[in-house]
Formats: sequence, structure tokens, C-alpha cells
Amino acid sequence: MSYCSGCHSLKYLRYSRMAEDLGLTEEQVMDNLNFTGAAFGEQIQVALPHEAATQWFGKMPPDLSLIARVRGSDWIYSYLKSFYVDESRPLGWNNAVFPNASMPNPLWELQGMQHACMARPSSPGWIPRSPG
Ligand code: HEC
Repeated sequence: MSYCSGCHSLKYLRYSRMAEDLGLTEEQVMDNLNFTGAAFGEQIQVALPHEAATQWFGKMPPDLSLIARVRGSDWIYSYLKSFYVDESRPLGWNNAVFPNASMPNPLWELQGMQHACMARPSSPGWIPRSPG
């Protein structure tokens, strides 16, 4: 919630349902996961104005309640781990799973700055990276 809900809504989910799904109490959700002042029974909306989003990202970040169903959690996991620095992109980020995505890397402070190595394993210039 703290890394994503500033840009994305989860509008087909209510705070109360999130509590139920995650096994949290009303107090835990309202104190730690609700940044909009919405009531416990309300849907998870985003405060980001459409106009500002269009100006900054070229589009409104999509609602994630449906995206998660369409893409699945494995895809989202891989997407979040596949951002890399790309100075040619407007926000300086690109993504190996979703090329030219207009979303900046929300987890860069946790991940560090990842740089892409695009060579195929079979090509002569490919150097295996040590894990980590
Ligand atoms: C600074 C704003 C911002 C933040 C913060 C942000 N996103 Fe995004 N996100 C976007 C934008 C803009 C797009 C649209 C990308 C496109 O279509 O080019 C997007 C797209 C996505 C998509 C792909 C949707 C699709 O089309 O399939 C997923 C999944 C997603 N974001 C998940 C997350 C998650 C999870 C977080 C938190 C860890 C997060 N986002 C944080 C702006 C943001």
C-alpha cells in the first residue's frame, strides 16, 4: 500500500475485504494501510488526479484489482523485479517484462539501480553474472 497506492487504485476491493483476505483486524488496516481517510467499508480509491497522471506518465496508472486477476501474481512479481535504468526513457526506467512501461521503479530504494545485460546466453559477449 505505501509503495503503490499513491498511483494505483484497488477500487473493486474494500478496506474491509482486504482485512478479511489478509487476516488483519480493522484497526491494523485503518492504522497502517489506509492513507486516504476512507471508511473501513469503502473501496480503495486513489487520490492522484487523472490530469496530473496524464501529464507525468502519459496515462492514468491502471486500477490494480483487475490487473492482478488478468496478469496473475507471478507476472506482477517478475515485473516488479525487472526494472532497469534506461536514460532514453522519459522517467529514466525501462522494464524487461513490460518494455517501455511508463511506470517508474517504485522499489528502487530497496533494489538499488539495476542495469540490463541484454545479450543472449549463446552470444560471444555474454558474461554470466554471479548471483546477487
Ligand atoms: C509513480 C506512480 C506509480 C507507482 C508508485 C506505481 N505504479 Fe504501477 N504503473 C504506473 C503507471 C503509469 C503504469 C502504466 C504503465 C504503462 O501502461 O505504460 C503502471 C502499471 C502497472 C502495472 C501493469 C499494468 C498492466 O498494464 O498490465 C502493474 C502490475 C503495476 N503498475 C503495479 C504496481 C505495483 C505493485 C506498485 C507498487 C509496488 C506500483 N505499480 C507503483 C504508475 C505507478
